[in-house]
Amino acid sequence: MEKQQSKRETWNSGLGFILAAAGSAVGLGNIWRFPYITGEHGGGAFVLIYLICVALIGLPVMLCEISLGRHTRRNPVGAFKQLNPPACNMAMLFGLGMIFCGVLMLIMRSFGWGLLFTLIGILVTKYRWTVVGVMGVVAGFVILSFYAVVAGWTVGYIGKALTGKLAFNTMESASASFVAFISNPFLSIACLFVFMALCIAIVCKGVQAGIERISKLLMPLLFLLLILLILRGLTLPGAMAGVRYYLRPDFRVISGESILVAVGLAFFSLSLGMGAMITYGSYVSKEQNLFTSTMAIVGLDVLVAFLAGLAVFPAVFALGFAPDSGAGLAFMALPTVFNQMPFGMLWAFLFFLLLMVAALTSGISLLEVVTAYWVDERGWKRRDATLVFGGCIFLLGTLCAVSVQNWDSIRPVQFFLQALFARIQPSFFDTMETASDWMLALGGLLTALFVGWVWGIRLAVDEIRHGSHNFADVHLWSALAGLKDDPSHNSEVHVYTLASVWGVFVRFVCPVAVVIAFLYTIGWLDMGEDASPEPAPEPAAELAQP
Ligand code: PHE
Repeated sequence: MEKQQSKRETWNSGLGFILAAAGSAVGLGNIWRFPYITGEHGGGAFVLIYLICVALIGLPVMLCEISLGRHTRRNPVGAFKQLNPPACNMAMLFGLGMIFCGVLMLIMRSFGWGLLFTLIGILVTKYRWTVVGVMGVVAGFVILSFYAVVAGWTVGYIGKALTGKLAFNTMESASASFVAFISNPFLSIACLFVFMALCIAIVCKGVQAGIERISKLLMPLLFLLLILLILRGLTLPGAMAGVRYYLRPDFRVISGESILVAVGLAFFSLSLGMGAMITYGSYVSKEQNLFTSTMAIVGLDVLVAFLAGLAVFPAVFALGFAPDSGAGLAFMALPTVFNQMPFGMLWAFLFFLLLMVAALTSGISLLEVVTAYWVDERGWKRRDATLVFGGCIFLLGTLCAVSVQNWDSIRPVQFFLQALFARIQPSFFDTMETASDWMLALGGLLTALFVGWVWGIRLAVDEIRHGSHNFADVHLWSALAGLKDDPSHNSEVHVYTLASVWGVFVRFVCPVAVVIAFLYTIGWLDMGEDASPEPAPEPAAELAQP
């Protein structure tokens, strides 16, 4: 272990870390999901609520994950294992509670859930918090398997734009072409293969040579492309209606459901709840200021989402489309929008390239969580681990790719899952997507509880203190007022610091908020008239009825 620790790579520079972590956060969640969900939830007011969720939950949990990573210098499993207390009442209570629920479900003949709850309960009572790390690695598999499929579509659309096949005049023709594209198993698997091969190649190269270099190159490119798209969209006649819709909050259209959707989106979009930020944090040097880095990562993530909305809505309004067209917004409406502009194919090509770039930097962080576990904990060679598990994810991805719309092509899998879980999603793709929602919510909640109540805010703050003295040792008002170096503001004891505010958030605000979001995700909390028990609609769900 000691030997491995001293050999562990670190990021070449502070900026390299920030760009890589922001690259993980910025992805399909920001550029594809954020605009369409905003469109479905009424525009400006939803944007405001999303921003509040990011600040109240996203920021504190992100700091938890990065400090856990840097302190332990481990993958998520190793990190929780290292800080696992020899006995923990909270874990015991949680584990026994899960076993109790599991047995109840088995008695009620809900076999799949019963087995799952009982298994997790037994693991938690035996291994305590290490299970949170293991769940992160499993989530990496699950998320990447469907994420890579959608990312594969962007690869396909880059090809279509290059060959001029995106010249749609109506939404109907765009929709028909999209459905034909994703229903062609050969094409979608080929695109999935290209995307996974890129991810594997980059992660194989390692932290500095691979992930850091590609992020430094791709992130600025992403901004450039977004700004270009925004400028084009804003100069279209009628674009201002879109700007108003996007930026002028109308709180009459907001329901309880919208608030909870915003919480879930913030989690997914910031890459929280599955250890991606623990893994990236583990390569950070002790000199780095974790607080300002976290602010920068969250800031970049929000900025890209915001810019993506600014690129989408003015164009959609200018060309008379409905902002609530749903998950198909990017793949159906935008090519049509682009086609009505001069040099349409060039804009379409740039947009899908941008979407693929964003998905790639997120995809590599998902694969890196899985790889880091096998390298650190199991002593595998990085190359072998990446190839073997990247390959497994590709295989799982092919199941998602051939079953985006329904179970037709993989009936045995459907029968197996149906035997276990009675009520299942309309496709394997949806199943993976829903499973990931659960895992992120649970992972994020447990991470906040672990840092707040088990590892303890005091030790966490000791870790953050390296490189960010102001965070823990300067009175918040003195720091904000620029008086931190004034002798009269340098008392020995500061009760009101950034650290104490953060501690209250991690121990109370985040867990409560995440539990509410979690209950909504699993459908136990139905708010608003049109709230559905399913999570936010996915492309697949919509595509089923073109
Ligand atoms: N944050 C990524 C996105 O917005 C998705 C992601 C989730 C990546 C979880 C890593 C971990 O697309």
